[in-house]
Amino acid sequence: MREFQLGKSKEGVLEMIPERRIKKVMLGEREVAILRLKEKIYAFEPFCPHRGASLLTAFTNAQEEIICPLHQYRFDLKTGQVRSGYCRDMEVYPCTLNEEGLTIQIP
Ligand code: FES
Repeated sequence: MREFQLGKSKEGVLEMIPERRIKKVMLGEREVAILRLKEKIYAFEPFCPHRGASLLTAFTNAQEEIICPLHQYRFDLKTGQVRSGYCRDMEVYPCTLNEEGLTIQIP
């Protein structure tokens, strides 16, 4: 497990990651998608586990799900569990946002 720190303050992170716009970052060797909904941050794999569509233009809903733009499969942003469709779960990475910034844990 590796830990990556982004930003130096909570305010800095909230400014750096606009709400509802999915950003891709490189953490070590891994591409990771980051999404902010209000003050909650989610990190997950940037490609859909179904057929590999980019999730950077995916939608979200009020149930904290991400909806793939290609076939509309839905995944739980907190756990990665597939909620509609038939494929493996999406990889999600634990995030902690506090006064020191954002920490993301990558396996
Ligand atoms: S590629 Fe994402 S649902 Fe099919």
